[in-house]
Amino acid sequence: MTTVTLLHPGSMGAAVGAQATAAGHRVHWVPDGRGNASHARAEQAGLIPAESLDEALAASDLVLSICPPHAAEQVASAVAASDYRGIYIDANAISPQRMLRIEANMARECTVVDGAIIGPPPTDDRSARLYLAGNEGTLGLLAKVFAGSSVHVREVGPDLGAASALKMAFASYQKPARALAGVAHALATSHGVADLLTAEAQTMSSQILSDPDYLPSVAARAWRWAPEMLEVEETLQAASLPTDFAQAAAAVMEHWEQNKDITLPLATILSQLHDAEPEQASHAASQDLA
Ligand SMILES: NC(=O)c1ccc[n+]([C@@H]2O[C@H](COP(=O)([O-])OP(=O)(O)OC[C@H]3O[C@@H](n4cnc5c(N)ncnc54)[C@H](OP(=O)(O)O)[C@@H]3O)[C@@H](O)[C@H]2O)c1
Repeated sequence: MTTVTLLHPGSMGAAVGAQATAAGHRVHWVPDGRGNASHARAEQAGLIPAESLDEALAASDLVLSICPPHAAEQVASAVAASDYRGIYIDANAISPQRMLRIEANMARECTVVDGAIIGPPPTDDRSARLYLAGNEGTLGLLAKVFAGSSVHVREVGPDLGAASALKMAFASYQKPARALAGVAHALATSHGVADLLTAEAQTMSSQILSDPDYLPSVAARAWRWAPEMLEVEETLQAASLPTDFAQAAAAVMEHWEQNKDITLPLATILSQLHDAEPEQASHAASQDLA
């Protein structure tokens, strides 16, 4: 049995905490400063309230930070300021750079693990993936904590920041796609063609992010797609809708305009999107911090 401090029981945190308690672990939470909804979720998840952060940490082998991304560094700082010397997992949607700052500020005796959660809050019938990067032995231990639960642990590798980078890459597509759908429906609605948009969209492939091999053919057509985005921009502007995505799409496609009707290898067209030589993300960032 492992004793965990969960910071904090939001909709994802409480669901992950419930999976850990169901797997036989003790999960503490810190009610101080949290609102009514967190209290209710914690109680429902069977979490154990602690008088203070220090009390929870003193009893724990593992800290799981699952909070809004903008609070991740502050939550980590409170743990860093304590006497805690166990495993600290940051499972938030944060940049690899912020992840490395968190690691740099934690006590050296702590083992910091980079985590990222993808999927819905887990239940007995619905799973979420917990991607973890860090020390191999520690990842093996963590996989055992959630073994048999609806939190499916996936080991990314030893480089801290790699799990966060995966989350950032996924979010960089998934969340803008939802916002884009909002703008497209607002535009169609303002022209009275929303039903036709929905019907047409039902014929589209939904395999966009999972089909990178299609991208070279996109790059080959970017020379005419970029100007089309400028037509979209004018249409959005006339409807008083945000034009930012259309401008951004045109700017991205301009990186590929040189490939007019030429299908190049995937690696080539992806490298054309970088404004400069990409850093070796986590290695370079950790050297900067050292
Ligand atoms: N929900 C999902 O479907 C989902 C999916 C994948 C990944 N995630 C990841 O899970 C993390 C948490 O998301 P969530 O959906 O669980 O969020 P949430 O429901 O908004 O819960 C956030 C928790 O953190 C607490 N909190 C809010 N502001 C805080 C602050 N400034 N300092 C410290 N704690 C604070 C909240 O407490 P009070 O509100 O009571 O103060 C609450 O207990 C995020 O990093 C997110 O990317 C979530």
